[in-house]
This record gives sequence, structure tokens and C-alpha cells, in this order.
Amino acid sequence: MSSFIVTGCAGFIGSTLVNRLLLGGHEVIGVDNFSTGQRRFLDGALKNQGFKLMAMDLLDLDALKIACAGAEAVFHLSANADVRFGTNHPRRDLEQNTIATYNVLEAMRANGIKKIAFSSTGSVYGESPVVPTPEDGPFPIQTSLYGASKAAGEGLISAYCEGFGFQACIFRFVSILGERYTHGHVFDFYQKLKADPTRLPVLGNGKQRKSYLYVQDCIDAILLAMDKAPDRVNIFNLGVDGYCEVNDSIGWICEELGVKPVMEYTGGDRGWIGDNPFIFLDTKRIQALGWKPKFGIKEGVIKTVQYLRANEWVFESRGQ
Ligand SMILES: NC(=O)c1ccc[n+]([C@@H]2O[C@H](COP(=O)([O-])OP(=O)(O)OC[C@H]3O[C@@H](n4cnc5c(N)ncnc54)[C@H](O)[C@@H]3O)[C@@H](O)[C@H]2O)c1
Repeated sequence: MSSFIVTGCAGFIGSTLVNRLLLGGHEVIGVDNFSTGQRRFLDGALKNQGFKLMAMDLLDLDALKIACAGAEAVFHLSANADVRFGTNHPRRDLEQNTIATYNVLEAMRANGIKKIAFSSTGSVYGESPVVPTPEDGPFPIQTSLYGASKAAGEGLISAYCEGFGFQACIFRFVSILGERYTHGHVFDFYQKLKADPTRLPVLGNGKQRKSYLYVQDCIDAILLAMDKAPDRVNIFNLGVDGYCEVNDSIGWICEELGVKPVMEYTGGDRGWIGDNPFIFLDTKRIQALGWKPKFGIKEGVIKTVQYLRANEWVFESRGQ
């Protein structure tokens, strides 16, 4: 049995990871400020004696140092996970993603904790000239404040590995799908279709090519890598071996909901500033450790729609 910190423990991916760690018989200290996290996602965990919730903000370094006492490793999942609205509040990504990551590293250093898993993002590649994009492709030009703040977090983590003997697994995910999904294109389309099933506004031309990964496959990869990764700094892309068009995904969502809306495209080959029209990551490195996703993109989209249909309360919490 080990004792782990999970930051962002009330979020979509963080709360799913908490459940998996508890299922493995581990002790978990969960940290969250509930800015986007949902208390209901922790209902099960809170019944488990191995789980302790620290409702606090990662920007409070003194409190974080106390929360981390006695843990063996940190899974750092907390973030401002919104890519699209980054330019509306440029300071947010810096604070929530870069400075919060610095605080996590400092709290680890104060407590002698040397192992960290970090949820970075495929957005750090900007618009890579190489697709499928490998982890060691050309040094990327950043196209979003979110990607830039995560790349800065990655930089800090590798410097702490070098400077203080930490070991890190850095995961660059494509978009994640599945139960507890509360933000992203399926959420937006579902919400719009619920309001008006006869028409669907779509950002861009719908031909953007994107890759997705089911949340339990993502957690499988994180746990495997934390167990087996050989190097001091280990960077892994996480995604399925393929991609779909936004229009394909819309088709699956509409079919599942039984609606036939008229499409209203805003036009252009991208939806917003920083929207990469073609995301497809090379995942040979994580596959070499023995990981393979169990679910494809279509199954992930359908599972997400089914989850949202059974849990429409999330729209009251997270919808606009
Ligand atoms: N969901 C995706 O498709 C996706 C893709 C790539 C990377 N990621 C990364 O994976 C991680 C988890 O994403 P998610 O989809 O679960 O997002 P989420 O918004 O559901 O979860 C983030 C959690 O962090 C908490 N949090 C935010 N700022 C905090 C702070 N200052 N102090 C304490 N808690 C704070 C929120 O309340 C929330 O519970 C993030 O780092 C995100 O950038 C997600």
C-alpha cells in the first residue's frame, strides 16, 4: 500500500484516478479548490477510509506543504483545463498551470517526495509539422496560452528532476472522453442540441481532425508508466492510434440522441485561436511499455453521450 497525493481530485480525470488508486488498496490525499471540480464525483471516495480530502487552493503553498506530508508520490492533475478562452484572461493559465505546478514541486521538495506524474497536453505541440507527432519532434511553437503554461510546467518539472533528483512521468494527452466528462466538444454539442435539436452551430468547417482517448484507458497508461517508466524524465503521448473529423463525432452524437439538426458552420479551418486543425499523436513510446487502449474514438464519444444523458445535472454545474 502506498500513499499518494492527487491534485485536481474532484475533476473529470482526477476523480477517476482517485477511484482507481483506492481500488488498488492505496491511500489517497485529494487536493481540490472545486473551481471546476464536482463534490459528487467524490461521493464514493469519501466513503473509503483510505481517502482524505483537502479542500484548498494550490496557490496556497504553506497549506500545500502541510497537505503533502507523508506521501510517496504526487499525481498532479489540477489545472485550468480550458484551452479555448485562454486569451480572455491571460493570467489564469500562468497562475493555475505554471505557478501551481511550481508550488506542487516546492511542496514535494519540502516533504522529500521525489516522484511526480503530470497531466500535460498534446496542445504543447502547437501545430506540429510532423503528424502523427512524436514526443521528440521539432521544438514546438506555442499557439495557446494553455499549451504555453503546460510547456512551462514541463520545463520546471524536468529542472527539478535534474536539480533535486526527482523522477517524473509527463503525459501529453489528446482530448479525453468518458464518464464524468464536463467540458469539451461533446459537452458543448449536447448542450446546444438539448436547447434546440433542430440546428447545431459548429465552430469552423467541421473538418478539423482530432484524436481522443477514453478516460479509463488514460488512467491505465498513467498507472503503468508510474510503475515502469525507466528514466528520470519520461514523456509520454497518450491517445488512440487514429483520429476522426469533428463531423464524424457530430454524426455519432446525433445518432445516439436520435436527432437530425441542420448544421450551421461558422467557417474556416479552425474553431478558435489556438485550435489545431489536425491532432494525432504518435504513441509508440507508451505502447512499448505494454499499454494499448481498449476503446476506440466512436465508443468513447458514445459512452460520453450516454453519461451526459444519465447525468444532466452536470450542465447546471458546468454549463453556460
Ligand atoms: N480533459 C481533457 O481532455 C484533457 C486533455 C489534455 C490534458 N488534460 C489535463 O488533465 C488534467 C485534468 O483535466 P480534467 O479534464 O479532469 O479537468 P477538470 O477541470 O475536470 O479538473 C481540474 C480540477 O482541478 C481543480 N483545480 C483547478 N485549479 C485548482 C487550484 N488552484 N487548486 C486546487 N484545485 C484546483 C478543479 O477544481 C478541478 O477539480 C488537467 O491538468 C488538464 O489540463 C485534460
